[in-house]
Amino acid sequence: MASEKKQPDSSSAPAQVPLPAPLSDLKIQYTKIFINNEWHDSVSGKKFPVLNPATGEKICEVEEGDKEDVDKAVKAARKAFELGSRWRTMDASERGKLLNKLADLIERDRLLLASMESINAGKLFSNAYLMDLGGCINPLRYCAGWADKIHGRTIPMDGNYFTYTRHEPVGVCGQIIPWNFPLVMFIWKIAPALCCGNTVVVKPAEQTPLTAIHMGSLIIEAGFPPGVVNIVPGYGPTAGAAISNHMDIDKVAFTGSTEVGKKIKEAAGRSNLKRVTLELGGKSPNIIFADADMNCAVEYAHIGLFYHQGQCCIAGSRIFVEEPIYDEFVRRSVERAKKIVVGNPLTAGVHQGPQIDKEQYDKILAMIESGKKEGAKLHCGGGPWGDKGFFIQPTVFSDVTDDMLIAKEEIFGPVQMIMKFKTIDEVIKRANNTPYGLAAAVFTKDIDKALTFTSALQAGTVWVNCYSAMSAQCPFGGFKMSGNGRELGEYGLHEYTEVKTVTIKIPQKNS
Ligand code: NAI
Ligand code: MG
Repeated sequence: MASEKKQPDSSSAPAQVPLPAPLSDLKIQYTKIFINNEWHDSVSGKKFPVLNPATGEKICEVEEGDKEDVDKAVKAARKAFELGSRWRTMDASERGKLLNKLADLIERDRLLLASMESINAGKLFSNAYLMDLGGCINPLRYCAGWADKIHGRTIPMDGNYFTYTRHEPVGVCGQIIPWNFPLVMFIWKIAPALCCGNTVVVKPAEQTPLTAIHMGSLIIEAGFPPGVVNIVPGYGPTAGAAISNHMDIDKVAFTGSTEVGKKIKEAAGRSNLKRVTLELGGKSPNIIFADADMNCAVEYAHIGLFYHQGQCCIAGSRIFVEEPIYDEFVRRSVERAKKIVVGNPLTAGVHQGPQIDKEQYDKILAMIESGKKEGAKLHCGGGPWGDKGFFIQPTVFSDVTDDMLIAKEEIFGPVQMIMKFKTIDEVIKRANNTPYGLAAAVFTKDIDKALTFTSALQAGTVWVNCYSAMSAQCPFGGFKMSGNGRELGEYGLHEYTEVKTVTIKIPQKNS
């Protein structure tokens, strides 16, 4: 096949990492709240169940953190951040070494963490092992390298003064993370924060606390001082809200729904005006021109939507295809979707596992029903799969119009919808006609067309002739209601420092 070399590899994982079999006898060792490098029971005495979404069965129970536990964690984080503390007086290069050590320990525990992630989050084991664990180790090493390279400037201020800037840590950072990439999100949050010298209180999602809690044991082993990293599992309206409302948290970083992102900002405004960064939902346009490499576009559009059961903030969930190739594109996309093998995510050869929980499962099925009712053409799937767990058939709709609910709202499931366009101006308007702005892509061989789109599309990331390509060096975040601020890359580090201007009177300056 002529275009074979252009086929997307669906991953930026190094091909040389060999894939072992998942652990068959996984034991969950850590289920408690992690504060001050110690394991704590919840103040209330409550625990909550953690489920395997492939079976709906309970894996274990975890201590349920709430406001009192968050308070304890914040006190520990504040103490670790005090002037003169071990953390504040540590060489920046030493912080880098600690982050590298943590990356070493994750590499050592890669099989265990990937197995745990697969069982708790319904992730394909191969993706968990190669993509998620790679997506943890690389940003940690990237941030480790930055730790002793964050510095201010000297400034030619008017008058007889000597002025310089210091890039200081913000302080205690509250970090609230979702269930779709539990460990990756944990690392994306803690790595830049620790690199810049902050201390953190992390709340994992209630559905997927296990890998985050395991990280507590690695934080101790790596040698971080007590209180630098604290992990409080619990629910959003209780433990999560305690973080966003806290008067002694200096910054909150959140990844999750736009609905909760608004609440976090409100809470920050009501409490102490803590700094807020948000990475929220999306309804990302993927625009395919008739001159594009069809094999490549079909494959990227498929992976860009179906990866991890569609539970990705960057999912290319509005596919616009130019009229002359529309029917052929739909035909090939349906053929591709029908090849998906649904099943237990631990089993080799399976391409699609379960949705995370009953709530998401019900929401996605309701969206599929609305698509059918509003007149979209259903080509495959369209309902639940299997008799246990939260599985949904890979679903493809065509003849979707912009006013349909499925074209407007984030579905976060294995539901592909393909729309038709005729002109460049029309598709630019339609692509941008959404409150979201996380990602976008364009497929064309015409450089002028491609560049027109890279500037016209309102999105934090624009891909040309590819999709989902991400890396620790590249900033990631959203325009419009997809969020505020950037994660990863050097831009991501700016979110974790305060700039201080220091001005000193001097007798006489000289140029
Ligand atoms: P969510 O936004 O409710 O949950 C994400 C995190 O926020 C969890 O840790 C949760 O405990 C916490 N949280 C919930 N309510 C909170 C509150 N009042 N204060 C502080 N923290 C709170 O997301 P959910 O309900 O799991 O999923 C709903 C939709 O959100 C999905 O269908 C999807 O559309 C979107 N979503 C987007 C994600 C992304 O990667 N941007 C990740 C997860 C969900
Ligand atoms: Mg929610």
